[in-house]
Amino acid sequence: MSGGPPGGAGARLVLATRNAHKVGELRAILGGVLGGSVEVLALDDPSLPPVADVVETGVTFAANALLKARAVAAATGLVSVADDSGIAVDVLGGSPGVFSARWAGRHGDDAANLALLLAQLADVPDEHRGAEFVCAAALVAPGSGLERVEHGRLRGVLERAPRGEGGFGYDPVLRPEGYEVTCAQLPPGGKDAISHRGRAFRALAPAVLEALGR
Ligand code: IMP
Repeated sequence: MSGGPPGGAGARLVLATRNAHKVGELRAILGGVLGGSVEVLALDDPSLPPVADVVETGVTFAANALLKARAVAAATGLVSVADDSGIAVDVLGGSPGVFSARWAGRHGDDAANLALLLAQLADVPDEHRGAEFVCAAALVAPGSGLERVEHGRLRGVLERAPRGEGGFGYDPVLRPEGYEVTCAQLPPGGKDAISHRGRAFRALAPAVLEALGR
């Protein structure tokens, strides 16, 4: 399958994720920096061939993001971007880290992951509850072989109980530094402006534009 000429009308970009929350955040973030002339496709777009799930064998966010972006670029022939992200807790030495999505054992069980993390930190006093969301944003352009990874971070404090209905994953327990509310209580645009994902993908945007010939 061909992505069409880079830079032509109809430049297309694939998001290498099946996580609907991430797709929503990435569309908003990338739409803001790429403008409306780039079509941002999700992996389940009917115009794309089926893409097999990638086993995240990397031990860093960057390695896993590159694994996902390379697999999707190879399968679709299109410029692909991938996110690998998670939460790094200070007193846990940066864990759950790349295991954030499967911390309680089953991949993607957000409620169980969050409950386990809160239980593990139950005795940790407020002054030692620092943590950060980390995102590696990877770009792979199949034609030119261009590959790029950028990181973004959002530091905050872990609450003792979930607050808020927005977002996903650990959003209800991370209160960003300088804020009174958790990430799950921020409006979507408010989270994107300060989030690890927003920072990483805004840093990646010039390379994305270059890969698309813009
Ligand atoms: P991934 O899909 O392998 O990158 O796993 C990311 C995991 O990290 C998710 O399942 C969430 O638990 C967590 N995570 C990543 N980004 C966020 C975020 O913006 N808010 C809350 N949790 C996040």
